[in-house]
Amino acid sequence: MQAVQFSEHGDTDVLEYGEFPDPDPAEDEVLVDVKAAALNHLDVWTRRGLPGINLEMPHIPGSDAAGVVTEVGDEVQRFEPGDHVAVSAGVSCGHCEFCRDGDPTLCVNYHILGEHVRGVHAEQAAVPADNLVPVPDHVDWQVAGSSSLVFQTAWRMLMTRAELQPGETVLVLGASGGVGHAALQIAKYAGAEVYATASSEEKLDYARELGADEVINYETDDFADEVSDITGKRGVDVVVDHVGAATWQQSLASLAKGGRVVTCGATTGPNPETDINRIFWNQLDVLGSTMGTPGEVDDVLELVWEGHMEPRVRDVLPMSEIDRAHEMLENREGFGKVVVVPDSEL
Ligand SMILES: NC(=O)c1ccc[n+]([C@@H]2O[C@H](COP(=O)([O-])OP(=O)(O)OC[C@H]3O[C@@H](n4cnc5c(N)ncnc54)[C@H](OP(=O)(O)O)[C@@H]3O)[C@@H](O)[C@H]2O)c1
Ligand SMILES: [Zn+2]
Repeated sequence: MQAVQFSEHGDTDVLEYGEFPDPDPAEDEVLVDVKAAALNHLDVWTRRGLPGINLEMPHIPGSDAAGVVTEVGDEVQRFEPGDHVAVSAGVSCGHCEFCRDGDPTLCVNYHILGEHVRGVHAEQAAVPADNLVPVPDHVDWQVAGSSSLVFQTAWRMLMTRAELQPGETVLVLGASGGVGHAALQIAKYAGAEVYATASSEEKLDYARELGADEVINYETDDFADEVSDITGKRGVDVVVDHVGAATWQQSLASLAKGGRVVTCGATTGPNPETDINRIFWNQLDVLGSTMGTPGEVDDVLELVWEGHMEPRVRDVLPMSEIDRAHEMLENREGFGKVVVVPDSEL
């Protein structure tokens, strides 16, 4: 088969699309003929190399894909050839203390398809049946292949971790990104008043289209000041931050008394200064969040499949142009998800 792969970490020039041995599904795995896949910022981190993760080379990146089941392992009951499926990339061990307690995202052995083990940016992928969700036939491949990771992440951040309530105010940073644009839609769906930041007027227009009540260009304006103006000095109930060092101080400054900031990422760096006085005096909650449980994945993807929310597609590229796809994320180009499709499917 043809697969995106790299044999060493580095810039986009380490990426290749070429021959790779066909995957052979294990007893608990399903062979998927990939129709569409999508990038996440994680693919950039994985390509560059993450501390403590030693990959078997060549590595196939990619955590999001959807396609048709072509073969199932002997133990697999839930799927059969012809089924449409999407990948949900979080893998848990099932037997550690945290898995037994019912939250597999806290698993001590938690890992992610495409990050720690080979992923799905390829013509075919052998995926554990537990990491597949059924996709109704009417759902477009681009939607099916680009929703899972960012919608589950944003859903858990807002609904489970921040316990968002209707009528609350939410500030979503980097609303043009995958997680950001999912969080914006989820917050609106949950009945919140939503403010969004992005780095260009064009991106702010998209954010408005997705329902943002107020938008702030955080390249040109101090967003904490803007939030203060919009809310009459009160601040917002919840901030969704995945940008990290560049926004952290202002994220805390944007919160109302008793507010919650929920973070899932640190694209601009993981070690910002923190004003601890602000945290205790304003009695803020700092919440971390990663991926989603199978139940959370089912809940949010059902809403996507039913059309209540949807991934915006920045661009669709053949997998042979994977270097360009990575560049789009690194250069902050566009709004929503970058989809890649096996060249043979175009
Ligand atoms: N813990 C988890 O489970 C989890 C899950 C998903 C993602 N994440 C993390 O969350 C972050 C966002 O992921 P994503 O897939 O949504 O990424 P993405 O699609 O590339 O979006 C990132 C957004 O961040 C904004 N940004 C601000 N400064 C940036 C910079 N220096 N470089 C690039 N973008 C910048 C950009 O929006 P503007 O141009 O509008 O500023 C961009 O659209 C990543 O760090 C990722 O690793 C974590
Ligand atoms: Zn576990």
